[in-house]
Amino acid sequence: MLLALFLVIKLATLSGKTFETIDPSSEQVIAKIAEGDKEDIDLAVKAARQAFDHGSWPRIPGCERGKIMNKFADLIDEHLEELAALETFDVGKVYSFETNVDIPSISKEVRYFAGSADKIHGKTLKLSSEFQGYTLLEPIGVVGLIIPWNFPSAMFVLKCAPALAAGCTMVIKPAEQAPLTALYLAHLAKLAGIPNGVLNVVTGFGDTAGAAVASHMDIDCVSFTGSTEVGRLVMQAAATSNLKPVSLELGGKSPLLIFDDANVNQAADLALLGSLANKGEICVCSSRVFVQEGIYDKLVENLVEKVKTWVVGDPFDPSTHQGPQVDKKQYEKVLSYIDQGKREGASLLIGGKSCGKKGYYIEPTIFENVTDDMLIANDEIFGPVMCLMKFKTIEEAIGRANATTHGLAAGIVTNDLNIANRVSRSIRAGMIWINCYHNFDSGCPIGGYKMSGVGKDHGVEALEKYLQNKAVVTPIYHSPWL
Ligand code: NAI
Ligand code: MG
Repeated sequence: MLLALFLVIKLATLSGKTFETIDPSSEQVIAKIAEGDKEDIDLAVKAARQAFDHGSWPRIPGCERGKIMNKFADLIDEHLEELAALETFDVGKVYSFETNVDIPSISKEVRYFAGSADKIHGKTLKLSSEFQGYTLLEPIGVVGLIIPWNFPSAMFVLKCAPALAAGCTMVIKPAEQAPLTALYLAHLAKLAGIPNGVLNVVTGFGDTAGAAVASHMDIDCVSFTGSTEVGRLVMQAAATSNLKPVSLELGGKSPLLIFDDANVNQAADLALLGSLANKGEICVCSSRVFVQEGIYDKLVENLVEKVKTWVVGDPFDPSTHQGPQVDKKQYEKVLSYIDQGKREGASLLIGGKSCGKKGYYIEPTIFENVTDDMLIANDEIFGPVMCLMKFKTIEEAIGRANATTHGLAAGIVTNDLNIANRVSRSIRAGMIWINCYHNFDSGCPIGGYKMSGVGKDHGVEALEKYLQNKAVVTPIYHSPWL
């Protein structure tokens, strides 16, 4: 069954050029993918513009859009195994996680926004003078969606589902490292009945196809997830082209704070989940773990025991916890941060090397005696690397957790309600998990403070990004009352 998934995808681009996507566990080429360029983005925008300005999608009742989106969700469920296998081949994600958590979450996401498509209402305004007003929420237009490689299908749906519900049309630029599920999802969207021109996928590179999306004069808004560096370029391109609104979900250096009263076993499990899940290739990775001094030694002991049982290997094997890093570039980047940590004087508790005969595998790695000024405590490593740091007081923990230019997420492990309340309100980050980590939900907005981004994904907040708010005002003559 799986062999049938090795693909040769040569959809046409104007240039006829292709690029390769690889399986990071074998380092083998999986497929040749059409390399879209600026001219291909222009064509896709033209199709999306036509579908927005003259097509049915923004004009049909919301419940009709919802019906088609629910069909899309049904098709995702029916093709769960194919999507999961493509993701595992292309990105090295663990197959059991894909089938049990990741892919099921994306059909839920589509259904959440399908249900919102007929509940998009403005307000009636009581104005101070003899006028009445109301607001109309209109789809913003053609949207550009630039997505990363770490959760390719989840990010695809995170961006396109609210845009579809709002009645927008779109051009989606998947990451060059992981284009396969985007193409498969586009195929399922078409089977579901999403009209031609509404959802366009252009595969290609960031500095060509991606940049063309960000600077396009006929794209009305851009939503991006990826590195802080490229987020800045996207915002600049929007500013120097048509001033389109931009939402950015960027990197993080999220703290997990473990207090003395925490249950050691639960705290160690959460630290592992927060730092190592998805091989650390996750924007909210809890790469800085602050542990209060009273619990520190017991926690370290428990953590190291647990890491020894953490299986790194074939992502299709059900016993595997961690697959290979996405590609050679990320693999080398993570290893160079590990070297940097050693050079800076942090102590390696466990891990620290690559592993396996082939493939981009890295051992789960824990450093202790990490100080706040070290590079590994400041840069987003985006790999299975945990930095352990000791603290004494709550004030100290809050201050050090906030001493970062990022602010995406944070975790708190405590059984003391007062600590949980005080710390959660003091951390400058968009998502706070108390006694849990990585708990995402379609209804729960996520987005960064500071340099972790602008705007939210998930929830009604995501829908609002894709809507224009128009006010309509008329006089009221001789009203006897309101
Ligand atoms: P990236 O930011 O270059 O890639 C993300 C997306 O942006 C891809 O679709 C890419 O093609 C596109 N892109 C690249 N340059 C562009 C440009 N000039 N204009 C428009 N679009 C462009 O991220 P990359 O290089 O793959 O990873 C580097 C680091 O970024 C990672 O090590 C990690 O630290 C961070 N990252 C963060 C993510 C997150 O979830 N916040 C996701 C992926 C990477
Ligand atoms: Mg790949």
